[in-house]
Amino acid sequence: MIFDDNERIVTSELVAGDSDIETGLRPRRLDEYIGQEAVKRNLEIYIKAALDRREALDHVLLYGPPGLGKTTLAGIIANEMGVNIRITSGPAIEKAGDLAAILTNLSANDILFIDEIHRMSRTVEEILYPAMEDYALDIIIGKGPSAKSIRLDLPEFTLIGATTRAGLLSAPLRDRFGVIERLELYQPEELVDIVTRSARLLDVEITPDGAAEISRRARGTPRIANRILKRVRDFAEVKYDKKITKDIAAEALDMMDIDSIGLDKIDRRMITCMIESFHGGPVGLETIAASIGEDSGTIEDVYEPYLMQAGFITRTMRGRMVTRAGYEHFGYKFSE
Ligand code: ADE
Repeated sequence: MIFDDNERIVTSELVAGDSDIETGLRPRRLDEYIGQEAVKRNLEIYIKAALDRREALDHVLLYGPPGLGKTTLAGIIANEMGVNIRITSGPAIEKAGDLAAILTNLSANDILFIDEIHRMSRTVEEILYPAMEDYALDIIIGKGPSAKSIRLDLPEFTLIGATTRAGLLSAPLRDRFGVIERLELYQPEELVDIVTRSARLLDVEITPDGAAEISRRARGTPRIANRILKRVRDFAEVKYDKKITKDIAAEALDMMDIDSIGLDKIDRRMITCMIESFHGGPVGLETIAASIGEDSGTIEDVYEPYLMQAGFITRTMRGRMVTRAGYEHFGYKFSE
């Protein structure tokens, strides 16, 4: 059976119904943005320096698992710089001409945000090189021996690229980013602050231990925390007197089949498969993917980061292995 990751409540991918809550909850300034302290510290300096020099900010690459706030950060950077942001994505730019049209419509110092930048085609990517390096667009006119290349000047702009894995980017593209920042999964205390802030903005009453319960089960991911908050709010409104407490949050999450630390049946299926069919590993990523009928890229981007952070699996040269903690969490006996 093939599981569709987007049917999971704990998927970190953007699914229908998220964007309306996300846009309303998105912080607009750097000082409202919770967590990712090292990234914020660096960006604050680069933004200030660019503002002082009245120049465009250097090109920025943001990478890390989905749902951690890459688009939000791009919006904040635009806001702090006082410039416009044009948002698109790698797969949405089909032809070189599409990108050329976007680039020629930018104003000085504007930001172009390209999500999933690793999914851009090669021909589109090649338009970006001179654009990023020299703020220039090389256009070929005509065909065959009489073809001529002309160079158009572009306004200075900042490209912000987002990707789940920097390793998927070609080296020439990666090298053209002056700032490369990795976003990490959030700590539970940071998620508590995010859930509490979101509850306030959504006008939902929640106790501190209610927020803690949601945060513990949100896989280090604000997008999941906000989605769970919304579901638990429905539950609290329909079954109880609206206020979200620890018990209500726990009951709702148990019903959604999300366990005490945010793992669901797909995580369970993956770990169980590794233990029962492969003696806990080492087993290759592709083998796991084929055994559970899941895409290997999705496993690597979406499931693994949290399972590794939780200390349930490790990566070795010969493949993935389930740790003692992984065996024990899923009720298996570990033997050396
Ligand atoms: N909502 C989603 N991510 C957030 C963050 N990092 N800080 C504040 N609110 C958020």
